[in-house]
Amino acid sequence: MFFILGATGYLGSYFVKYLRQEGEDVFGLSRTEIDYTDVGSLISILRRKKPKFLINAAGYTGKPNVDACESDKAECLFGNAVFPGRIRTACEEVGIPWGHVSSGCIYSDRKSNGEGWSENDEPNFSFRNGPCSFYSGTKALGEEILKDAKDCYIWRLRIPFNEEKSPRNYLQKLLNYSSLLEAENSISHIDDYINSCLSSFTQECEPGIYNLTNSGSIRTRQVVEWMKEEGVTDKEFNFFENEEDFMAKAAITPRSNCVMDTSKAERNGIALRPVEEAVRDSLRKMREQVLA
Ligand SMILES: NC(=O)c1ccc[n+]([C@@H]2O[C@H](COP(=O)([O-])OP(=O)(O)OC[C@H]3O[C@@H](n4cnc5c(N)ncnc54)[C@H](OP(=O)(O)O)[C@@H]3O)[C@@H](O)[C@H]2O)c1
Repeated sequence: MFFILGATGYLGSYFVKYLRQEGEDVFGLSRTEIDYTDVGSLISILRRKKPKFLINAAGYTGKPNVDACESDKAECLFGNAVFPGRIRTACEEVGIPWGHVSSGCIYSDRKSNGEGWSENDEPNFSFRNGPCSFYSGTKALGEEILKDAKDCYIWRLRIPFNEEKSPRNYLQKLLNYSSLLEAENSISHIDDYINSCLSSFTQECEPGIYNLTNSGSIRTRQVVEWMKEEGVTDKEFNFFENEEDFMAKAAITPRSNCVMDTSKAERNGIALRPVEEAVRDSLRKMREQVLA
């Protein structure tokens, strides 16, 4: 059986759906039913149910976006940094392997040599190496708390997308925003990401950090061109002049825009598809939904 913490959330619900489709037995936990953030309660339920693997898809992201984390710092710090440490304590005590949904948003830009950020690089968009958003600072602290954790996978996701008409889907966000920020990013197709996360466990990859983004990177302008080419929209998109313009008009805290190095996932046989293939695939499915 798989345990999923945060099973009601955006990503948690995809993990539940994906595993059930694979015929797996899934036990999704929500704080509304069991206070899984209490170490004692978590240990006792782990002892009772004995899952083969636990997935932590719980965390504080801020709604509608990371700006909200700036005004709810205690909850953000707890959800993203303190709580993963509690899961570590419980899983190590009971001897359960587990995976933590982390984020690549602890980096900004590329490395000075032009390469993407690898799992060995210190975060450069964190409290220790700022400036950063409060959200990113807490995600970096979460990874720090899990350093050398036993039987723990840290799966870094970035900017999730697929074909679904959800306000959380990156492609849908681009269609909804009145102005866009031109930036280069690594991004993660949700099904590809979940498949790679689970493969790291089933293929017995060494526990540790994995950058799980589609290989390569995208620029915002390129994605909106692909949207037009795939017939998703003929909208003329507006762009902010630059990051200062974006910060002045639309944001409270700086955003992480960054490129990840995915070679560790490739070496371990758990790489995600090339990014253009995954984005165009989602766009074609979006178009089919409009035509249906
Ligand atoms: N969405 C993204 O763009 C993105 C990108 C990269 C990484 N991530 C990471 O992925 C994880 C899940 O994100 P998500 O987008 O699925 O978030 P979400 O939709 O807000 O779901 C998170 C779930 O976590 C649970 N939770 C437990 N402790 C919490 C706390 N202190 N504050 C808020 N929620 C708490 C809640 O479930 P219950 O109350 O039902 O237990 C909630 O439904 C987070 O760690 C996030 O940092 C997300």
